[in-house]
Amino acid sequence: MKAIVLRKHGNPGVLSFKKIANPKPKKGHVIVKVSCCAVNHLDIWVRKGIPGKKITFPHILGCDICGSLKQGFGNFRKGAKVVVYPVLENPDPLLPSTMIGGFSNYNGGYAELIQVPKSNIVKKPNWFSDIEACALNVSYLTVWNMLEKCQCQKGDWILIWGANGGVGSAAILFAKAMQLKVIAVTSNAKKISKSKKIGADVVIDRNKSNVVTQVLKHTKKQGVNAVIDHVGAKTWPLSIQVLKEGGRLVVCGQTSGPKAIVDVPTVYSKELEILGTYMGTKSQLIKMHKFMRTKKIRPIIDSIFSLRDASFAHKRMESNNHFGKIVLKM
Ligand SMILES: NC(=O)c1ccc[n+]([C@@H]2O[C@H](COP(=O)([O-])OP(=O)(O)OC[C@H]3O[C@@H](n4cnc5c(N)ncnc54)[C@H](OP(=O)(O)O)[C@@H]3O)[C@@H](O)[C@H]2O)c1
Repeated sequence: MKAIVLRKHGNPGVLSFKKIANPKPKKGHVIVKVSCCAVNHLDIWVRKGIPGKKITFPHILGCDICGSLKQGFGNFRKGAKVVVYPVLENPDPLLPSTMIGGFSNYNGGYAELIQVPKSNIVKKPNWFSDIEACALNVSYLTVWNMLEKCQCQKGDWILIWGANGGVGSAAILFAKAMQLKVIAVTSNAKKISKSKKIGADVVIDRNKSNVVTQVLKHTKKQGVNAVIDHVGAKTWPLSIQVLKEGGRLVVCGQTSGPKAIVDVPTVYSKELEILGTYMGTKSQLIKMHKFMRTKKIRPIIDSIFSLRDASFAHKRMESNNHFGKIVLKM
């Protein structure tokens, strides 16, 4: 099969397009013929390497997968269209779960074929194309989980960082469908106009305005009920500042760095809640598919690259010029 093989950590140049042996079926697993795989920031972390996180080389990236089954099992027939739920439970309860194609020993979907546990197979909703369905298993699922954790009510204010990214754009779509008032933050005029187009009520250019001042202006000095933060070190202090009493900081990432400075008195005196989110459950994924159908929400696709051009897809994500999901097509 053809695959993008990672033999060492490094820049996008380490992503090499190769012909390698097909995976051999093993007990409890099934082979999926991959049709497309969305790119996530996780792929970039794994490609570059993170101190303390180990993978075995050669490794294949890709955790956001849609395809068809090479063999049938249970209620699934051979050839059935499926998506792959990417989370692998860690047997040690003190350690976080891992991801197929991420920091785990499971190869991912930057390949024509992938072997995954049968328990990770989910029927592909027929109201989405393969490209759309592959884009939902990671950032969309995480956002769904984050919004459940926010417990926002109709009319509440929510602040969403990185409006153009996979997580940010999904959060705008879902928050609007839940009738929340959305303040989105992004970094240039083109992204501002697209953020408004997909429903943000207010969009702040973080390069031109003071985010805290703008949030207070638009919420009439009340602050927001919740913040969707996937940026980490750079944004946590601001997120905490703009939350109203009893507000929720819901976090899933650390794009700008892992160590944030937190003003502890602000957290307890405003009775804030800080809630971590790691993906979501398989049943949340299915619930989210149905919600998207009911609300007629389609994922935002920025661009589609062929598998052999995975390095260009990574460069696009790292250039931060994308808006929505970047997808690799086999
Ligand atoms: N915990 C989980 O289960 C989970 C699941 C999915 C993703 N994540 C994490 O969530 C993060 C986002 O993922 P993604 O796939 O959406 O990535 P992405 O598409 O690359 O989006 C990243 C966004 O971060 C914003 N950003 C970068 N530096 C910033 C800064 N200094 N201040 C404010 N905004 C900044 C950028 O927006 P602008 O420059 O336009 O403002 C960009 O849109 C990643 O760290 C990823 O690992 C975690």
